[in-house]
Amino acid sequence: MAKLARTAALMAAALLLFAMGTIGTKRTPIPVQCNLKVNATYAIPGLPLAYDAYMPAIDNETMFLHSQRHVGAAVTAVNGVLARYPELRVLSLSEIVSQIGVKRFNRKYAILANDSIALRNNAGSLWNHAHFWQIMTTFNSSNPATVLTDAEPKAGVPSLKAAITAKWGNTTAMLDALRATGAGVFGSGWAWLVVRPAASGSGYELAIVPSPNQDNPLMEGYTTDPARRGIPILGVDVWEHAYYLRYRNVRPAYLSSWVGLVDWARVQRNYALAVTGSIDLMLC
Ligand SMILES: *[C@@H]1O[C@H](CO)[C@@H](O)[C@H](O)[C@H]1NC(C)=O
Ligand SMILES: *[C@@H]1O[C@H](CO)[C@@H](O)[C@H](O)[C@H]1NC(C)=O
Ligand SMILES: *[C@@H]1O[C@H](CO)[C@@H](O)[C@H](O)[C@H]1NC(C)=O
Ligand SMILES: *[C@@H]1O[C@H](CO)[C@@H](O)[C@H](O)[C@H]1NC(C)=O
Ligand SMILES: *[C@@H]1O[C@H](CO)[C@@H](O)[C@H](O)[C@H]1NC(C)=O
Ligand SMILES: [Fe+2]
Repeated sequence: MAKLARTAALMAAALLLFAMGTIGTKRTPIPVQCNLKVNATYAIPGLPLAYDAYMPAIDNETMFLHSQRHVGAAVTAVNGVLARYPELRVLSLSEIVSQIGVKRFNRKYAILANDSIALRNNAGSLWNHAHFWQIMTTFNSSNPATVLTDAEPKAGVPSLKAAITAKWGNTTAMLDALRATGAGVFGSGWAWLVVRPAASGSGYELAIVPSPNQDNPLMEGYTTDPARRGIPILGVDVWEHAYYLRYRNVRPAYLSSWVGLVDWARVQRNYALAVTGSIDLMLC
């Protein structure tokens, strides 16, 4: 109980610091310890596995086009906008994504309305996909029943399984809810498992939320409904480009296969990073 309260307090503090960081006094940006940013321009985030390693859930060509063309275009667009805002280039990707569109933030950096929308869509896309690549592994190789434990995986690291059980009873029921949310997104978007301070004001809670287009639950500026905000620890892309070659229009079939790709150790790691506010590290 004491541990839970302490973690919740830490998380609330982390969220607050995170939200305030770019508005208040200057501070050291959260380091991005991966290949996302090279000499102040972003690179296409690499896939942990080869393009053809995700079968039978996702085919080689989809992974190639998704990574190199779709995400590639977003990276080019982000770099194009950031070239005009040197002050934004020292912020981490998560800070840009969480703050873009917030009035004080846009004013502070004199971000034009069209550039704000361009960052919403393209920095959003870059964050979302960098995250998506990191939580997938080879099909059915990561069994939640063996990877996740009720006990804290390490001292002070909260158990994802315990949090899922508290809310949905088991991982299967949580994934069913995620698939239903993904199937319900009208047009393009994402379905997310997020963590946030509990509505009761004590502790924290998990929730499943949708987002349209390339919006992200971190986006305070554009996700106006607080019920749809939180720190994502697992997200699934439901744009047609993610599944159309293999599944055509049948998104629920893609979602049923996709859950077999989830890397549970990564999601548990994301949960631990989320509650300590180390959001950028999820992308590495
Ligand atoms: C980044 O900058 C360093 C130092 O100027 C340089 O050695 C390196 O080649 C650059 N890397 C890229 C990918 O441009
Ligand atoms: C996967 O797709 C890439 C890009 O189209 C292609 O170069 C490669 O040969 C393909 N690999 C397999 C195993 O089909
Ligand atoms: C936004 O408009 C400005 C000036 O009107 C232009 O220089 C800039 O390229 C535009 N941004 C985008 C992302 O098109
Ligand atoms: C993947 O794992 C699920 C759950 O254990 C099982 O029902 C399914 O048959 C497996 N699929 C394949 C293709 O092995
Ligand atoms: C998971 O939870 C759901 C919903 O409570 C329940 O119907 C289902 O039987 C449970 N599955 C397992 C394997 O315990
Ligand atoms: Fe995508």
